[in-house]
Amino acid sequence: AEQARADIGVVGMAVMGSNLARNLARNGHTVAIYNRTNAKTDDVMRDHGGDGDFVPSHEIDDFVASLKKPRTAIIMVQAGRGTDAVIDELAERFEEGDIIVDGGNANFHDTIRREHDLRERGLNFVGTGISGGEEGALNGPSIMPGGSAEAYETLGPILESIAAEAEGEPCVTHIGTDGAGHFVKMVHNGIEYADMQLIAEAYDLLRRVGGHDPAALAKVFEEWNEGDLSSYLIEITAEVLKQTDAETGKPFVDVVVDQAGSKGTGVWTVQNAVGLGIPVSGIGEAVFARAVSSKPEQRKAVQALEKGRPTPVETPDGFEDDVRAALYASKVVAYAQGFDIMIAGAKEYSWDLSLGDIAKIWRAGCIIRAKFLDRIVEAYDRDPELPTLLADEYFAKIVADGEAAWRRVVSTAALSGVPAPGFSSALSYYDALSSDRLPAALIQGQRDFFGAHTYARVDKEGTFHTMWGDAD
Ligand code: NAP
Ligand code: ATR
Repeated sequence: AEQARADIGVVGMAVMGSNLARNLARNGHTVAIYNRTNAKTDDVMRDHGGDGDFVPSHEIDDFVASLKKPRTAIIMVQAGRGTDAVIDELAERFEEGDIIVDGGNANFHDTIRREHDLRERGLNFVGTGISGGEEGALNGPSIMPGGSAEAYETLGPILESIAAEAEGEPCVTHIGTDGAGHFVKMVHNGIEYADMQLIAEAYDLLRRVGGHDPAALAKVFEEWNEGDLSSYLIEITAEVLKQTDAETGKPFVDVVVDQAGSKGTGVWTVQNAVGLGIPVSGIGEAVFARAVSSKPEQRKAVQALEKGRPTPVETPDGFEDDVRAALYASKVVAYAQGFDIMIAGAKEYSWDLSLGDIAKIWRAGCIIRAKFLDRIVEAYDRDPELPTLLADEYFAKIVADGEAAWRRVVSTAALSGVPAPGFSSALSYYDALSSDRLPAALIQGQRDFFGAHTYARVDKEGTFHTMWGDAD
């Protein structure tokens, strides 16, 4: 049997696990590796064995025996049943104080359950979000570990050595207990959905109303990438728009079927936000926009009845700048809402989340990495208890400066018949927060009328009910 000499192990040698193992080895760790199907382990040794010091095993017993104490193993297998199967195999063999890490895209409710079960058996369980896909896993992901502080003492330095770096700091921090890491990764993905939708709306407006072709728009996005909007998603948008299809010579975006799929975490974010009572309309509209796009029968049926689309309105001077301002303001709203669900989640699940630290570790390695995250870090530095990002001086100014443009863009979209659910719902959300009075007063009246739900008054304390039928 192997002597116990590996610092850390990785189970699952598919795309993510193999790249993560290579990252660990390249950073000087002795890495035990194991995969259910041995061929994948052999492939890694053949193709990348020279990356560092690996200890490959074909049997789970040998894998476990190769790990130094406290044993630490990162599971990177298919989320759900695969993860449960591997957890069981490791838990049977691990001893008190050992650490099982799930680096897959687990649902945080599963992580809470697993952490609870394993803690009762004396084992540490760390559910961690790992963002950045294949490239991130190899060269530096953004890492969002949950679990006990004790486990983080052992695991933290290892994760710090392989994480992406922003401003000289590793993009990893102990997020909180049990499911906190996977929860925060879920919200990250939800924000990513909103960000992508807003960029897509900007593109659509500039194309259909502004009249620019994809190649010209690639230049616009490249320019935007030099300013406040500078981000990975804006950068790759320019790249995608630049692309021409080799077969037809057409713009790549024009040969792709316009139906967007989704794998789950964006949907999870909305489901959980609804349960927590947090209006994440930006993320919700992004999820719904993908769903609408993926209903070809409904789209065809309505198109068949359409008697002519509205003519795009004449674009006002400076339309591109307007769209940029609307995009930025809407993005502020989407992030404000995303951070709100973290505040609510922290309360519901008793996590001590540091929003500033979370913004910090999203500055590099992950899909939503952007200059913008620095502004969020600064906002939480100024006031860790901010009630909403929109109340921060910098973001309040962005929205105020962009407000007129934002309104012009939303009305231009409506008049031109171009859907802009992200832009318009963000503006409505902002208008709701900034309105002195909301028609919720009327809704309270309706509720009191039909269900005696009672209401509060603006002029005195207490709970009131009107005898509706009796009123003359
Ligand atoms: P994957 O395709 O999700 O999973 C394949 C791996 O899971 C293989 O190693 C497979 O082993 C193993 N596996 C599945 N069922 C198993 C079982 N019952 N027992 C033991 N092993 C089992 O791999 P991936 O794309 O590398 O992703 C790994 C995890 O990272 C997933 O949770 C994924 O959601 C998450 N993630 C992926 C990305 C990405 O960009 N791909 C990004 C972030 C996070 P065999 O070889 O034996 O079949
Ligand atoms: P994808 O890679 O497209 O996401 P997947 O369903 O997630 O597909 O499965 C990923 C890998 O897990 C597959 O390579 C599959 O292995 P095989 O190529 O050997 O079929 C493996 N896998 C998933 N479930 C499995 C099972 N129940 N038994 C064996 N292998 C399984």
